[in-house]
Amino acid sequence: MDSAAVAHHIIEGDVLREVPGLPDAHFQAIIADPPYYQVLLEEAWDNQWATPEAYLDWLEQWLTLCRPKLRDDGLVFLFGQHGKREHTWLHACSRLCREWAFHDFVVWDRVVGYNDRSDSFTPQYEMILVLRKTADATPYFDKDAVRVPYDEATIQTYLRDKRYPDPVKREAHLRKGKYATNILRVPSLKGNSKEKIGHPSQKPIRLIEMLVLAATRPGDCVLDPFAGSGTTAAACARNGRRSVGIELNADYVALARQRLAEEASAAS
Ligand SMILES: C[S@@+](CC[C@H](N)C(=O)[O-])C[C@H]1O[C@@H](n2cnc3c(N)ncnc32)[C@H](O)[C@@H]1O
Repeated sequence: MDSAAVAHHIIEGDVLREVPGLPDAHFQAIIADPPYYQVLLEEAWDNQWATPEAYLDWLEQWLTLCRPKLRDDGLVFLFGQHGKREHTWLHACSRLCREWAFHDFVVWDRVVGYNDRSDSFTPQYEMILVLRKTADATPYFDKDAVRVPYDEATIQTYLRDKRYPDPVKREAHLRKGKYATNILRVPSLKGNSKEKIGHPSQKPIRLIEMLVLAATRPGDCVLDPFAGSGTTAAACARNGRRSVGIELNADYVALARQRLAEEASAAS
């Protein structure tokens, strides 16, 4: 693969087979949204493993293959979710933090709950385990790239605070917005959303853009080992980053490539 020549590359194939052929120390970030393990019960790709142990071995296996591909100051963002009773994700976090250095735990607040249980609170979030290569690595992370705007009423309230003598400077500061917390509040995609293109687990592009913008510089390359509908590739295309995606399912590969083509024509 000549990834330098192609800004975005969606590879059709299995993560275990395709990752070893990628260039070493090439990716500034890895954004991985793998099968969750028996959470989406109707999707064959989420039910490939006979036991939680087999799934955990597989997670560890492909992440180990990814390790030399990540730059030393890079980050891995690993999506995970529980099912109603399924909790393999908890073991995944514990196990992976023995191999990698724990960096952060980000919550994706989907804003709206998805009402699939009556015996507990309505689920409303997914999780992103953030890992770095070694405990002493200093990852690249630009907090200024992902600021969250204050609403107008809040800005006006803060401007009335007399402790700040220069109102022009104060307003310019407030208009930049505040740093994002590690609870990222981005509405999940509804069935009738214009953004939704036919993948059952498609992530909102704004969510992936926040990761891309904070964890990479313009021109950097991002690896998405489970490309699905190509959300990472689209987020990179919109923000001047390069990307490589791997996806097993030929239909999803076609969706992702089509999406990239549409991004390119919208930008031209
Ligand atoms: C949770 S989805 C990713 C969704 C994606 N983030 C999006 O926004 O569209 C997981 C994807 O992994 C793919 N997949 C499952 N096993 C795989 C494997 N061994 N290698 C590569 N892709 C795989 C599935 O086909 C599925 O599209």
